[in-house]
Amino acid sequence: MTAILHCGDEARGALWREIFARELPEVEFRCWPDLEEAGDIRFLVAWTLTPELIASLPRLEILFSIGAGVDQLDLGIVPPHVRVVRMIEPGITTTMAQYVVMAVLALHRDLPFYLAEQRAGRWTPRDVLLCSERSVGFLGLGELARASLTALAPLGFRLLGWSRGGGEIDGVECHAGAGGLDPFLAQCDILVCLLPLTDETRGILCRDLFDRLPRGAAIVNAARGGHLVQEDLRAALDEGQLSAAFLDVADPEPLPEGHPFHSHPAIFLTPHIAGVTRRETAVHSLIANLRHVLAGRQPEGEIDRRRGY
Ligand code: GLV
Repeated sequence: MTAILHCGDEARGALWREIFARELPEVEFRCWPDLEEAGDIRFLVAWTLTPELIASLPRLEILFSIGAGVDQLDLGIVPPHVRVVRMIEPGITTTMAQYVVMAVLALHRDLPFYLAEQRAGRWTPRDVLLCSERSVGFLGLGELARASLTALAPLGFRLLGWSRGGGEIDGVECHAGAGGLDPFLAQCDILVCLLPLTDETRGILCRDLFDRLPRGAAIVNAARGGHLVQEDLRAALDEGQLSAAFLDVADPEPLPEGHPFHSHPAIFLTPHIAGVTRRETAVHSLIANLRHVLAGRQPEGEIDRRRGY
């Protein structure tokens, strides 16, 4: 019989096993470490991997990531013929869009400034800008950026986006490739990073990029901690080139005790909760995707293993 192995949170595994038995009984749902008859296991769903786990699955065909990203899976240990699929599910997209709207509005309405003023016992009203007077740019134009752009659109911000290959999105000024980065950055009052983490994007949020933003711009990183050069952020904030940062991710996670980001007045840090895979919804996306596969179709969210996303 065809089987899928779940490796991760036990409560999620137990719930998914029940739902699979009801909705996709032709695929046996197993929870690690149940490796009996490992030859039946064609599919694996996991957040991270170990070499032992991969070595114990000789007939593995498709690896499904529990998350929207795949960089946390050590794909170097996964045989090249194994296909890799990221998670696309309404729980992640909805929660990410909520987080981005929250962060953008907080930055737009000067929350970091007012919080600092409150702490100092001061009462300092500032002029208010309209949303149409503020430009919000997205680095990365994948599922999560598009959902966030859709959620922001009714508020009236000027919206921009940049990605390697570009894109066309109604109401969004899209830029592409290395040549498109400067004209994009020069306009972003608030820059939101939702890029995949690859060798090319690691450290992209660095001094050189911050200097190309308008002075006083703010950033939101809800992608991966590896995108950010922490020292460069600190310097750009301290020198006023940047005004504030919302960071949902860090490297490492969690940051060590006493790390300066915990107490920096212009940094809002959350513990990787922006876009959350919800077990109640993700299981249905996984089942729908397995149905595609069993019918000989392409799974939604399959990555290009050479590109890394
Ligand atoms: C979370 O970061 C994810 O990749 O879903």
